[in-house]
Amino acid sequence: MPDLIVGIVGGGGHVGLVQAAGLASLGYYTIAYDLNSARIRELQKGIIPFYEPGLAELVRSGLKCKLLEFTGKIERLRKVDLAYICTGTPSLPGGRTELLQVENAVTAVARAVQKRAIIAVKSTVPVGTARRLSRLLQQQRLSEKAVIVSNPEFLSEGSAVDDFWHPSRIIIGSAEPEAAEIVAGVYAPPHVPVIKTGWENAEMIKYGANAFLALKVSFINLLACLCEKSGGDIRVVSKGLGLDPRIGPSFLEAGAGFSGPCLEKDLRSLIGQFQDAGEEAPLLEAALYINQRQRYLVVSRLKENLGELKGKKIAVLGLSFKPGTDDLRETHTLPVIEQLVFAGAEVTVHDPLLGMMSWPRQMSAFLPDLRWASSPYEAAEGKDALLILTAWPEYRDLNPAKLKSCLANPLVVDGRNLFEPSEMAALGIDYRGVGIGAEVGR
Ligand SMILES: NC(=O)c1ccc[n+]([C@@H]2O[C@H](COP(=O)([O-])OP(=O)(O)OC[C@H]3O[C@@H](n4cnc5c(N)ncnc54)[C@H](O)[C@@H]3O)[C@@H](O)[C@H]2O)c1
Repeated sequence: MPDLIVGIVGGGGHVGLVQAAGLASLGYYTIAYDLNSARIRELQKGIIPFYEPGLAELVRSGLKCKLLEFTGKIERLRKVDLAYICTGTPSLPGGRTELLQVENAVTAVARAVQKRAIIAVKSTVPVGTARRLSRLLQQQRLSEKAVIVSNPEFLSEGSAVDDFWHPSRIIIGSAEPEAAEIVAGVYAPPHVPVIKTGWENAEMIKYGANAFLALKVSFINLLACLCEKSGGDIRVVSKGLGLDPRIGPSFLEAGAGFSGPCLEKDLRSLIGQFQDAGEEAPLLEAALYINQRQRYLVVSRLKENLGELKGKKIAVLGLSFKPGTDDLRETHTLPVIEQLVFAGAEVTVHDPLLGMMSWPRQMSAFLPDLRWASSPYEAAEGKDALLILTAWPEYRDLNPAKLKSCLANPLVVDGRNLFEPSEMAALGIDYRGVGIGAEVGR
């Protein structure tokens, strides 16, 4: 059994909980510490605060084997050899990164530990942060107690447990080779490339990866626009592009754009980092601009058919930022729904995981008049249009004829291109996808 004792700071969060449960299942005694005491109390009982496939089983088995401990007390980390920082790095107004949670976590761990520990930063932090954190420890006379390593996280919500077991690569930035060796030795499955490098390179790899994924999405959405004007079909174009191994098929789906807790936040942060360095980043700004445009596009599609949205009844399918998660942070769906509500539409929402009971209270205050449906067909019943915003597999399996029979007006605006336009047209449905010219399938 591995003899390191591991601490996870932010162990109740999306990244921290997966890391904690994963390491416990590898045999490490793992102490997950979080400031959110309500969450910690639930986790101690095996109750998982968010949906993530396979995570509940992993947490419960860690608790059962007594290798996984949840605590709200920093003192419990006093014996750890290695602490992972998995706290949030939210955006400040203007897009730069708020580092307070990370700084507080690092100094708290360094104060708590009895012997010198490694602090591995998994949170996504601007380039230069590990060096600054190291200086912060020096200034606070804590550098004898802890050494900083950068170990960015690449998991995706919805497949986070699988990503823990099968990482595409492990990146370790360190100024001390021995510390990098220890972090690499914790878990590096055979055949998974491990890059040991300096702090700045490790931090830049994480931002570079997320920015590149965002660029791919905006690039395909840019081509989608021309496809529509020229009578093309972006789905075919995307397939043809993705088959080039230099390009690859992922993140090449045209639609309502990227969203969620990372891509946009990290893109904005990276733009800010360029600005702070006295440089411009027009490529990144264009990706952001195109992404915003996609959110207006789906609403303007509704307006093209319905005219004024005031008083119109619209069903929205999908709330989470992508399938497989109930995470609403920075989801594209909320700004779209906001536009509909502010235009005076009556909006009924369906999501496979989120419902009225799980709708955050602050959102109810902000969007008080949302109606909820327990199935997509119920959502469509008597509506003037159906708008699809999240590519849940169950939406792909919907019966278009049944949908049409539910709708008062057979208009489907599909922000995820889930249906075949020719089949929808044959049923008499006015179907508007993204990047699909009017001639396609007619
Ligand atoms: N969510 C993702 O898909 C993902 C993927 C890769 C990287 N990341 C990065 O990982 C980091 C964490 O993201 P997340 O989605 O897990 O955030 P999260 O908000 O789900 O979790 C952060 C947790 O940290 C806790 N916390 C904050 N300050 C603390 C402190 N000082 N001590 C103890 N606990 C503290 C919070 O209570 C919260 O439970 C971010 O930097 C994010 O950009 C996230």
